[in-house]
Order: sequence, then C-alpha cells, then structure tokens
Amino acid sequence: MNLKGKDFLTLADFSKKELLYLLNLASRLKQDNKIGQTHHLLKNKTLILIFIKPSLRTRASFEIGIQQLGGNALTLKQDEINLGIRETIADTARVLSRYADGVMIRTFAQSDVEEFAQWADIPVINGLTDSTHPCQVLADLLTIKEHFGELENLKLTYVGDGNNMANSLMTGCAKSGIDVTIGCPSGYEPDSVFLEMAQNFAQKTGTIVEVENDPQKAVKRANIVYTDVWASMGQEAEAEHRKEIFKPYQVNDELLKHAGDDVIVLHCLPAHRGEEITRQVLEKYADIIFEEAENRLHAQKAIMASIM
Ligand code: CP
Ligand code: NVA
Repeated sequence: MNLKGKDFLTLADFSKKELLYLLNLASRLKQDNKIGQTHHLLKNKTLILIFIKPSLRTRASFEIGIQQLGGNALTLKQDEINLGIRETIADTARVLSRYADGVMIRTFAQSDVEEFAQWADIPVINGLTDSTHPCQVLADLLTIKEHFGELENLKLTYVGDGNNMANSLMTGCAKSGIDVTIGCPSGYEPDSVFLEMAQNFAQKTGTIVEVENDPQKAVKRANIVYTDVWASMGQEAEAEHRKEIFKPYQVNDELLKHAGDDVIVLHCLPAHRGEEITRQVLEKYADIIFEEAENRLHAQKAIMASIM
C-alpha cells in the first residue's frame, strides 16, 4: 500500500482497504510502543502543526507521535501566524512546504484546509474543521476494532449535534461497514451533503446510514453509543440555548437501557459532564473512552508514517 504524498483531509478520500491498512499499521505501532520497540519511520522529518482553534489531544498526540517516529514537530498558533489574514493561505502553504515534510491544520472552514493542500507540495492532515474530524474517527475505528474484534455487523448511534464528529463518523463507519444512526434534534441534523455522501458509501458496503430524531429509537440495538459536546468550538454564544434543545439527547443510564446489551460508550472529548453525558456514564465507560483518546496517538502515527 503506497500512500506517500497523499493528503489526509477527509475519510471520503480513502478506500475501505486503505482505512484497514492504516488501522492495522496503527495496531502494530501500538503493540510495539507498549514493548518499547521504536520505529524511526520519520527520522529527521518535520511536521508543522497549525492551530486556529484550541486543542489538547490533537496537539499532544501529534507532537509526541512524530517524536516517537524519530521526527520533530513545530506548533504555530493563530496569534503568531494570523493564517489567511497576515498573508494568503496559498503563500503560507508554499513557504511551509520549503521547511517541513508535512502540515497538520485545525481550523474553521474545510475549504481553508483544502486550499492549503492545493498549494502545498507536502502532505496536509486535517486536524479538525467545522465540517470534519477524520483523525478522531480513525482512532474511534481502531477502538471499536480492538473492542469488538471486527468492524462489521455493528451499529453505532451518534447522539447529539449533527456536527463535524457526526459527519466524519458517518463517512468512516459507512466506508468500513458499520451501520450508523444519527440521533439528533430536528434542525440539528448533519449537513445533507455529508449524509448523502455517506449513504452512497453505505450502499457499497451494504450498511445503513440514517437520521432519527427520537433518541430512544435511535439507540435501539446500538453496539456503540457515541456523543460529543452540544456546542462546538466557535459556537460558544449558542451554548445556553443549545442546552435546552439537546436536553433529551443526554447520554445517561436511562437512554442506555434502550441500547444493545453489549453497548459501549465513546466520546471524542472534551466532555461536558451533566450536558451531553452524565458523570456516571462517563466514569462507567472511562476505560474505553480514555483508550479511545490514547488511540489518537497510534492512529496518527500510522497516518504520518504512511503519507509523509
Ligand atoms: N478530540 C479532540 O480532538 O480533542 P482536542 O480538541 O483536545 O484536540
Ligand atoms: N465538535 C467538537 C469536537 C471537539 C473535538 C468541536 O468541534 O468543538
């Protein structure tokens, strides 16, 4: 499998075979990491990380991940570079291509990441936009595969806002063979472009991608219940209003009674206890939720080692 030079902007750009390849590589790197076996697959290579939005997991796991692979990272924040304001995205991309071997960007518009990638001569990784979060979903698929031993014959229900996580989960699950239901309030459904695209992928893998406004119906027979914050980064002003609308969509013990017997709960984090998830549910599933957070490291090492 040769993915060298490819951008990692959305899971839609990767075939099922390529996603499974990345997941297998991530598993191998994880196992080797546990026994202290190092692989300097990116010796002396540099990844530049651009953050226009805050981050804990993404920054830490990329910086540590590239160090573990023998390379190094340089993090640039918006107050330092003013991406798209101080100079054009195109110029920034062309300059950084002369210094580094890869760039990761976390920003608002997906189109900004695409524009950056269009001008860059080095691979670009999407570290979250308003529309997608593919690195997170690769780590989620790794977590699901580790827990259930496979990625087929499973149903994932995402409960909450039809946001970037919902979009990338629909794409990643449909591609890899997992049924997806998005349980969200009316008016907060995922963007129809992402929904229809995922439904097209689902047709090919014989899976279902659907939206259900009733949270109890949505989680029926779910093997995985997934949730995320009700107000994403950039939506802080709407947070109070959203708390009212999303109340019935809280992942709590009562809702989980309607899910499958073997259900696990995943959360991309950061979590807002008492909002999208109760403290009790988060703590009950803490082992797997923090394993999921750990898997960001392994999944992204697989991405970097493959494309850089
Ligand atoms: N899940 C996730 O992307 O976390 P950060 O926002 O902390 O990077
Ligand atoms: N939907 C959230 C995900 C955080 C990892 C946000 O965009 O803020």
